[in-house]
Amino acid sequence: MGIQVKEQVLLAPFTTMRVGGNARFFARVGTVDELSEAVFFARSKNLPIFILGGGSNTLVSGAGFFGLVIKIEFKGITYKNNHITAGAGVVWDEVVSDVVAHNLCGIENLSLIPGTVGGAAVQNIGAYGVEACDTIFSVEAFDMKTTQTKIFLRAECEFGYRESIFKKNKNLVVTRVTFELAQNGTPRADYEDVKNYFAERGIKSPALGEIREAIVAIRTWKMPAPGIGTAGSFFKNPVVSVPEYEALKNELPEIKGYLQADNSVKLSAGWLLDHAGKWRGVRRQGAGVHEKNALILVNYGTATAEEILSLTDEMKSDIKEKTGVLLEEEVILVKS
Ligand code: EPU
Repeated sequence: MGIQVKEQVLLAPFTTMRVGGNARFFARVGTVDELSEAVFFARSKNLPIFILGGGSNTLVSGAGFFGLVIKIEFKGITYKNNHITAGAGVVWDEVVSDVVAHNLCGIENLSLIPGTVGGAAVQNIGAYGVEACDTIFSVEAFDMKTTQTKIFLRAECEFGYRESIFKKNKNLVVTRVTFELAQNGTPRADYEDVKNYFAERGIKSPALGEIREAIVAIRTWKMPAPGIGTAGSFFKNPVVSVPEYEALKNELPEIKGYLQADNSVKLSAGWLLDHAGKWRGVRRQGAGVHEKNALILVNYGTATAEEILSLTDEMKSDIKEKTGVLLEEEVILVKS
């Protein structure tokens, strides 16, 4: 068949932030052969490669990308008992909706997260007390350096908070992900927002479908309205040591911190932006901070990547100056 390589393709519509210039070259791939061909094309022209999934965690600069953008379109969801394998290009929430309909438990708390299955593994997406790596059994990835495909078992994926080997090693391209779910599992409803949702409705042990409904409702309320450009949380929640946390608590007694299994403390970037700074609802030209969550940057329609970055730089400097904490971007910046 052969892939079709297009030239000068505007990237803004391929990202949920809806900003960014052109890709010099652009190709869609749905099989390992097509992916190999695209990689060969780029290598033969000495071009950099950017792997694009759902574009939901990606900020493309106004200058675009002077290389080949490879859009991952591996499709299909297959079931083998409680193991579910999905192509990296499948829309994440379609998988969640499908497995919940099959009464399989484990990823319902990750309902409505934008992006694709590949992105879910690369970013180790997480919400409401659950991370993708809790149920990922294995990840199939194509190594652009060796041009070989390899299966990584969960323990080999080096998962961390919004972190994985696939994010660290730019040669690895996720092609398929297998999840191990539970047939009659108990959903997790202990996260504050989720607990409150069910308490308000007098529901004691919510069923799987009810959890999905709850998450969809909570997210819909907290996230910008559909049509508004956003990349979800723009910053990661900073992780500090216990002594650093204690020192911060002296200055900001109300500060939110959550003790992690490795004895570090995860701070709430949203809280810092809200209480150390005053960022919620701030607007600069077409870019702004969401009114309901200071972690979320929005494009009101006319924002450029540069406007968004100038606003986020302002936010970072402010929080650094007031607390000493350096906020780090969760969003990946694409530039030539
Ligand atoms: N908070 C504030 N002000 C804000 C936002 C949050 O004070 O503007 C406080 C809240 O009161 C709450 C705490 O911070 O007590 C945590 O807030 P929330 O549960 O809403 O979570 P978050 O830190 O805003 C994280 C993830 C989200 C995920 C939610 C729900 C990161 C960077 N973000 O957000 O993931 O959906 O938890 O579990 O880890 C994403 O990564 O793109 C994303 C949306």
